Amino acid sequence: MSKRSARAIAPSNIALVKYWGKRDTKLNLPAAGSLSATLSSMYSETEVTFDETLSADQLIINGEAVSGAGLSKAVGLLNDVRRQSGEKHFARVESTNNFPTAAGLASSASGYAALAVAAAAAAGWRASTAQLSALARLGSGSACRSLIGGFAEWQTGSASDGSDSYAIQVAPAEHWPLKMYALVVTEGPKATSSTHGMMHTAASSPYYTAWIDSVARDLNDARAAIASRDFSALSEVAERSCLAMHAAMISARPSLVYWRPQTLAVIEQLKRLRAAGLSFFFTIDAGPHVKVFVPPETDPMVEGKLAELDGVRRVISAVVGPGARVVD
Ligand code: DP6
Repeated sequence: MSKRSARAIAPSNIALVKYWGKRDTKLNLPAAGSLSATLSSMYSETEVTFDETLSADQLIINGEAVSGAGLSKAVGLLNDVRRQSGEKHFARVESTNNFPTAAGLASSASGYAALAVAAAAAAGWRASTAQLSALARLGSGSACRSLIGGFAEWQTGSASDGSDSYAIQVAPAEHWPLKMYALVVTEGPKATSSTHGMMHTAASSPYYTAWIDSVARDLNDARAAIASRDFSALSEVAERSCLAMHAAMISARPSLVYWRPQTLAVIEQLKRLRAAGLSFFFTIDAGPHVKVFVPPETDPMVEGKLAELDGVRRVISAVVGPGARVVD
């Protein structure tokens, strides 16, 4: 009986210059570039086993069998691995996340990155990091950035097959190990998926083109801020990119609002902490939670202060860290 398996771990990532719009929805090719920080301690761990006794691919996330759109994306990715490696069998994929799934905490990014790395390793395909990043992108666009440690930039690319649309490293984690606190304000999954939300924004927001046009400058400014470890410059870019993305969503028709009242209440309270001297920036993805980045030298006591803010249910902390890898 032939069985080949491998296990991989992939961290989550949070975009500082956001991805919100596609030029190709099937291959997840972005309308513009994006730039993120890869986070230790929020990760997916995935085991892929190609097994000749299986009659179809199987996907199990946190102990539950997944069907529908989630399964078909994983199958698409596995098909690509079979095509590139010559592997003939179906696979059983078992994955766990150590943070809330589909709550705007980028579980799809870590999940598909871990799947790409584990599937390639199980099939014996010696893919390059760029190839693995492009493979992870097929599952979820932002997943291509979780392959890379530290700060990653997803290049838009121009090839119609997506072969040049993958993430590269802007700086390693040791260059600037920023700390991140995810302030969780609600539990449970989000109402509108990123995929659907960005298609709806592109189709109906009068601000969509302006949003896409703003990204190139934000990328330049973010790269420069990271190279010189200029925290206030990075803060300005990250907050304006996040707010411009949300402005485009909010102006879609009908309006797409991922924020909850607690989201704004937390931002208001954070501004008071800033006035009192705390150095930080916030960013928000397709969900209600507020992610706060602080410089590496920040007093760890700040976590307690953030946990006490009105509306915060719990805090998940992480540090900028390494990318996806195979584990024993
Ligand atoms: C707001 O990568 O989840 O987090 O490519 O459709 O799977 P799909 O979307 P996804 O979108 C992430 C959107 C974001 C911003 C970002 O991570 O850049």
